[in-house]
Amino acid sequence: MKIFKTQKQFTNYLKTLNNLELKVGLVPTMGALHQGHISLINQSKDICDITVASIFVNPTQFNNPEDLIKYPKSIEQDITMLEKAGCDILFNPETEEVYADDNETWNYNIGELDSLLEGEFRQGHYLGVTQIVYKLLSWAKPNFAFFGQKDYQQYLVIKKMVNDFNLDVDIIACPIIREADGLAMSSRNMRLNADEHQKALIINKSLKFLKANFDKLKLSELMKEAKTFFNDISGVELEYLKICKQNSLQEITKDKDKSNAIALIACYVGQTRLIDNMMLS
Ligand code: PAJ
Repeated sequence: MKIFKTQKQFTNYLKTLNNLELKVGLVPTMGALHQGHISLINQSKDICDITVASIFVNPTQFNNPEDLIKYPKSIEQDITMLEKAGCDILFNPETEEVYADDNETWNYNIGELDSLLEGEFRQGHYLGVTQIVYKLLSWAKPNFAFFGQKDYQQYLVIKKMVNDFNLDVDIIACPIIREADGLAMSSRNMRLNADEHQKALIINKSLKFLKANFDKLKLSELMKEAKTFFNDISGVELEYLKICKQNSLQEITKDKDKSNAIALIACYVGQTRLIDNMMLS
């Protein structure tokens, strides 16, 4: 696997591949890789000639400075995993390389997706995400870029940005990879102790309950029952549990609108914030 630390070398190398008309797939990550990330690499390898991963903990998308400092890092292990998966190229720049100009600004009106769900609890997060993904797309100029359904709202935001800027890239959503016990894989899971991990399983349990009962129960009953899963578990604090339209993430409030639905959850387990979701129809 070729590893690039500078943007110039990375861009120049990718240009030669584009000229050869090779199909390039990009998998942007922040490292601390797990099988969820590797599933994206595998999907890229299935449909592209060259697979490029990026590892960069992007400071502009962290609204909580402590979260940025605490973000797990395991670059040696990440490289081994990417090599084993058959990734061709890794772009792993330092912050100064990506944000060379201290006065850089990024203005993009994301629209409603910016203030819903994650947007409400992590203000400015998607502005930072679009800023870095726009850079990565313009440097790598991939034919395809792969994003996990685990961060479903992020996937919708990126799709919208690509559409708004008329970028010539296909954005592919990849299914959520879970641990055998149902917990969605996440770099943040390594911060959970055994007790917290056990408690975090309530997220998947309540999503499965919602899916199993979606056609049977009224929305009000569904929501009430699903939320009770989170009652009385010490150290678990629900931030949101919502049933929304899959394309807009507007909350569904009427039973007659119960089509194309997705359930989304964010909660704290101890100090760790976890998110998950499940398609209901
Ligand atoms: P990160 O959290 O490292 O995730 C990188 C990609 O892996 C995202 O597209 C995410 O949705 C996907 N992913 C994470 N866990 C997954 C799982 N269990 N199953 C399937 N896919 C999973 O998301 C980011 O980084 C950043 O915001 C980034 C897009 C790289 C911009 O900085």
